[in-house]
Amino acid sequence: MSALELYSLKTELLHAIAEAADLAKLEEVRIAALGRKGRIPELMQALGSLPPEERKAYGQVVNSLKTAVGEALEARRAELSKAATVEKIALERADVTLPVRLGPLAEGRIHPVSQVTDEITEIFADMGFSIAEGPDIETDFNNFTALNIPPEHPARQDHDTFYFPEAPDGSRAVLRTHTSPVQIRTMLKEKPPLRIIAPGRVYRCDSDQTHTPMFHQVEGLVIDEATHLGHLKWVLEEFCKAFFEVPQVKMRFRASHFPFTEPSMEVDIGYAKVGDEMRIGEGDAWLEILGCGMVHPNVLKNVGLDPSRYQGFAFGLGIDRIAMLKYGMPDLRAFFAGDLRWLTHYGFPPLAIPTLAGGLS
Ligand code: DAH
Repeated sequence: MSALELYSLKTELLHAIAEAADLAKLEEVRIAALGRKGRIPELMQALGSLPPEERKAYGQVVNSLKTAVGEALEARRAELSKAATVEKIALERADVTLPVRLGPLAEGRIHPVSQVTDEITEIFADMGFSIAEGPDIETDFNNFTALNIPPEHPARQDHDTFYFPEAPDGSRAVLRTHTSPVQIRTMLKEKPPLRIIAPGRVYRCDSDQTHTPMFHQVEGLVIDEATHLGHLKWVLEEFCKAFFEVPQVKMRFRASHFPFTEPSMEVDIGYAKVGDEMRIGEGDAWLEILGCGMVHPNVLKNVGLDPSRYQGFAFGLGIDRIAMLKYGMPDLRAFFAGDLRWLTHYGFPPLAIPTLAGGLS
């Protein structure tokens, strides 16, 4: 290669180095110049074919080219990586003048169903009830048969049940249609005296403005040797006063029928409608809020308790429904639509934990 050609190669390489816009491009240039099959190693190889007297001078020229290119590469790399750092710092810059974000404790919301469940739990805990739980997927026995609803009983049609496919042994699990099976689970597991509530999800194949396929109930059960209907009425009245936070409530116990209680009652609560507001405890309109009764002797027998010795009461209350009533939420479906605007409006701050001492709401 002539001196002129070597000179123009040097100009070309230094130019390419100066033009490399980022570190990746610069690496490409380096490989093309100094890599194993690069331009400069190629020149070095040619050294062998030169007459011995020319080798020394040629070698020196190529070496100085190599040094110049190496130094130019190093200088450009330092420049580019400094620029990259400056750019990164600019991107990651924190603007300390921005207002502080509120963070999850101030922005997060507790769903009204959770809040109302906590309120109910707080009231019954104060009356000495403990919390029992059962699974959403239940046996037909716990959900129906043990509750005195045998297979051909018409009450089964009242519950629009979601059934699971038949198991090899012929049994069919269900999504529990009410929280009443937790009564059975509790009585099978523990000995009286019993005093429990069981809040949870229940399922029915039903959907319109006031029905959703999943909703919430709380079950209550008291079993001992002395509890009577008067206790049931007192407990429910105390509950309603505490829950609606009013000194007096008007309650109406209407005769009804449930297979698992005898006698059975439905309970209405008196209210007055003033504008859009429902005032609980005033006026003469009635709204049904729960079902209850004295536990049927057959239910006691089904769990191995002697009905001539033990007795007690049970009740079942719709959580969503009394939440709507207490907090004036008109549409049940909105409860489960996952709309953040609804939750921001009706939800509760995470640390507003309901206590009887501090106030429920
Ligand atoms: N399980 C009933 C339902 O879902 C509600 C109910 C009524 C529960 C009377 C009870 C009760 O414990 O005694 O419709």
